Amino acid sequence: MEQQVEALRGEALAEIAAAKDRATLEAARIRYLGKSGAVTAISEGMRNVPKEDRPRFGKLLNDLRQAVTQALDDSERLLLEAADSAAVSSLDLSLPGTWPSPGTLHPLTQLMDRVVRCFRRMGFAIADGPDIETEWHCFDALNTPADHPARNEQDTFYLPDGRLLRSHTSSVQIRVMENCPPPIRIIAPGAAYRRDEVDATHLAQFTQMEGLYVAEKVSLADLKGTLEFFFRELFGSGTNIQFRPHFFPFTEPSYEIDIRTEALGNEWMELAGCGMVDPAVFEAICERRGDRVFDPEKVSGFAFGFGLERLAMNLSRIPDIRMLVENDLRFLNQF
Ligand code: DAH
Repeated sequence: MEQQVEALRGEALAEIAAAKDRATLEAARIRYLGKSGAVTAISEGMRNVPKEDRPRFGKLLNDLRQAVTQALDDSERLLLEAADSAAVSSLDLSLPGTWPSPGTLHPLTQLMDRVVRCFRRMGFAIADGPDIETEWHCFDALNTPADHPARNEQDTFYLPDGRLLRSHTSSVQIRVMENCPPPIRIIAPGAAYRRDEVDATHLAQFTQMEGLYVAEKVSLADLKGTLEFFFRELFGSGTNIQFRPHFFPFTEPSYEIDIRTEALGNEWMELAGCGMVDPAVFEAICERRGDRVFDPEKVSGFAFGFGLERLAMNLSRIPDIRMLVENDLRFLNQF
């Protein structure tokens, strides 16, 4: 019996040591330790062993089972380690990795950031107001009478309760003056809405940047200096800028600003509206606030407004405004 055990141990350990893969090891585990395996079979011989020899023999069998188990576990670990180092050795750590594409900011967002940075350098703070506005903030307070075409149902989105989607960000001028005394120097970027047929130059929702500067003795020279500086920052120092007389209800005098640069074809591009805040706007604010801190005899101011999409299209030669909202990566990746 002892010889049998010894022989089995030798055979099992040799076979395990020779195993080259885990499948062979698993087969050996079953052959020796399985329910009908060799070690199990030899244990059944215990029945025929004389009583006094049983403890010694039992120990022999236990040692055998333990030795085989240990050998199987060791071999398995070695095989796993070998597989790991094989995988690592075929890995070239000097190769450049594959980067996830991080994406970029939308061209309008990039332009907005540039514009905001420029005005912040000149001391303008950022203000905002609601997209859903009252008629008073959007029109009345801005000296825009009830029969003005901008108030036509065909031009603006009205809600059932009489409020509307603001057709320009000029309403933020009113929001700010209602709540803060002068001096005021703000820009207000945000969405504006109009019932325009969508085409290459119109969207029903677009982006505007409003500006307002109110203090004592603000003059037309301040308006021109500020906006000329801004447009030369954006389009280059050689840019030609003209202030062409125009009409807006909320400014007097009013101008449209045209830009011309050699780099962009030397044609005049109409890019913004501006003017000196109309005294009627200050009077509306005084009435609403119940004080005279915006008395047009004491303060003056300038305001301006322009569309970001139009600016982006001229600056980057974008032929169709819809490209800015279609999310086509072939377009967006160019910025
Ligand atoms: N609100 C005007 C528009 O939507 C733009 C504008 C013109 C704003 C003149 C101003 C301004 O503040 O002074 O077309």
